[in-house]
Amino acid sequence: MHLECIECGEKFEIGKRFYTCPKCGGLLEVEFELQELQHGIDKKRLRTEAPGVWKYRAFLPVLDEKKVVSLDEGGTPLYRCDRLAMKIGVRELYVKFEGANPTGSFKDRGMTVGVTKAMEFGVNTVACASTGNTAASLSAYAAKAGLKCLILLPSKKVALGKLAQAMIYGAKIISIKGNFDEALSFIRRICEEREDIYLLNSLNPFRPQGQKTIGFEIADQLGWKTPDRVVVPMGNCANIWAIYKGFFEFEAVGLIKGIPTMTGIQAEGAKPIVDAIKCGSEKFVPVRQPETIATAIRIGNPVNGPKAIRAIKRSNGTAESVSDEEIIAAQKMLASLEGIGVEPASASTIAGLKKLVEKGVVDKDERVVCVATGNILKDPEEAIEISQKPIEVEAKYDAILKHLG
Ligand code: F0G
Repeated sequence: MHLECIECGEKFEIGKRFYTCPKCGGLLEVEFELQELQHGIDKKRLRTEAPGVWKYRAFLPVLDEKKVVSLDEGGTPLYRCDRLAMKIGVRELYVKFEGANPTGSFKDRGMTVGVTKAMEFGVNTVACASTGNTAASLSAYAAKAGLKCLILLPSKKVALGKLAQAMIYGAKIISIKGNFDEALSFIRRICEEREDIYLLNSLNPFRPQGQKTIGFEIADQLGWKTPDRVVVPMGNCANIWAIYKGFFEFEAVGLIKGIPTMTGIQAEGAKPIVDAIKCGSEKFVPVRQPETIATAIRIGNPVNGPKAIRAIKRSNGTAESVSDEEIIAAQKMLASLEGIGVEPASASTIAGLKKLVEKGVVDKDERVVCVATGNILKDPEEAIEISQKPIEVEAKYDAILKHLG
């Protein structure tokens, strides 16, 4: 395996600690010798071992397995959602519930690999900017590894559950009076200037490698079959690329046939990639003041935008935006019809799918997987805000009976 720039194609040794291409500044990707990998895979073991990120270790860029830092991430449920499918109007609908990961979001899949690389590089501090989930996940894995953790958060709109997690795991948290995009540019600068601090935002080429396992696991859980479509919320835009890459590699080594149509969803107030896809452009125009109730994806200048655009184009996919009202309605629908509690960013996939079915873009005969990236408990304030309030009564039996209906 080696690192490769997605822009200029320059290749670098896998042991190099680069975040972006030192030649042109482009995004880096880990590439495997897929033919070699194909011969090395133990297909029988892959078919019998229980799911989990490290089941797919042959596809992960780790050099020293003794250094692996894990909280048993991955192996999340793939719920078949027949009631929701009927409501939306598709044949077969699944929700990949990433909220079941150790810190309640898909970030744990990336962090187990990213923090393992930090151990391989021998740093003493890991760092990130975050809308909340990356912070919660990184601080947990840093704690497990015995590393220091530095986090930059936008001062407004970090969901309470995420903040509580990062705080209790013991990270040093600096809250800036600005948005995520600004926080990310500051932390990048710090990590470029300081050798001892290792950047674990998804710009880091190793972290999304762990997130590839969402694609692996979906195929695995569907009996080594590719769904027609996978719907993913897009914020900083690494996850949609990572999932695409998972399917691409599984197909390349002959484990599955075909790659699903990758479908990215953004909120109306933060949709630079949707705009680029809709006008057929390879480049996107950043949104200066991103705004949405889905605070996890409140991002105007996604660093991995070029990877998301590639994933969508190469898989013949599409992108759609949804309003906050549509997100809330979808969040309630998923909770009340299927018993699946997700945070608003995750519900955007259900809202986006509904819209695309109504527009006739998604065929009613499709087998679709929506990736629910984060748990409902991440953003309890929003959940309370949008739900019916508890009824308060006197502590008397009759007073309660009156409300039974
Ligand atoms: N869903 C949730 C729940 C997220 O927390 C994020 C990103 C995304 C979707 C989007 O994923 O960035 O790979 O496109 N959250 C980051 C954070 C930005 O800081 O926690 P992406």
